Amino acid sequence: MWLIDGRRARAVPVGDRGLQYGDGLFETLAVVDRRVRLMPLHLARLTEGCRRLGMPAPPPDLLAGELERLARGQARAVLKLLVTRGEGQRGYAPPQPAQPRRLLGRFAWPPWPRSHYTRGVAVRVCETPLGLNPALAGIKHLNRLEQVLARAEWRDGRWQEGLMLDGERRVVCGTMSNVFVVREGRLETPSVSRCGVAGVMRALVQREATRMGLASREVDLDLDALAAADELFLTNAIIGIWPIRRLGELSLRRGPVTRALQAALALQGVSP
Ligand SMILES: Cc1ncc(COP(=O)(O)O)c(C=O)c1O
Repeated sequence: MWLIDGRRARAVPVGDRGLQYGDGLFETLAVVDRRVRLMPLHLARLTEGCRRLGMPAPPPDLLAGELERLARGQARAVLKLLVTRGEGQRGYAPPQPAQPRRLLGRFAWPPWPRSHYTRGVAVRVCETPLGLNPALAGIKHLNRLEQVLARAEWRDGRWQEGLMLDGERRVVCGTMSNVFVVREGRLETPSVSRCGVAGVMRALVQREATRMGLASREVDLDLDALAAADELFLTNAIIGIWPIRRLGELSLRRGPVTRALQAALALQGVSP
């Protein structure tokens, strides 16, 4: 089911700049027990993304109302919200003023086995590199061709996620997730100032780590650093935390820090 600018619909005009240029932003949100999880974090990132792209942001109250409308009666669901710069003429020049368009869709919760959360998942290293562009880093813009190419690298069910590196072989993220490393009792995650998405679940994990007295840093990490890790895990708004049990040829176990963070998040309604 889709709402476009608040009305039930399934089509957007061909001149929409989201379609023409990927000129817009999106959020993928979890609904649990009829409530949209982490809505303030999602709306804050979306608003910041609009500011960075220089387009008017839809009023957060309007977005919240529409999200709540689609969450009604849902035990578990996934919502996808896109905000595009709306209609434009041919050519890149942004329309002045722009009239953003809202597209909001509801989907079934993915049928992942519980073992992804308890035992962990297998992750391959993707060949598709991420380009470096601080102007687009951190925000969840609609240009996702790098992730599309990376996800097309494997089709078998042996791998649940792919790890992506930038052109200088620094680890950045998964195709649909952020990555964390536990080393010597410290929590580390790649910076997202050159590329990558500043995930809402990443922010929540960093907050919980601080609350638990666990040192947490944003650093440059290469594959050797991951190979030397005590624990590795992935995060996103839907999965919460998935431990990594296999990275390429490397085997790992869900460790105590991952468990403690999963438990802390479960208290906030983030559980499988
Ligand atoms: C490329 C990428 N990085 C990171 C994330 C995690 O972001 P969030 O925690 O906001 O779901 C996603 C989620 O879809 C993603 O697509």
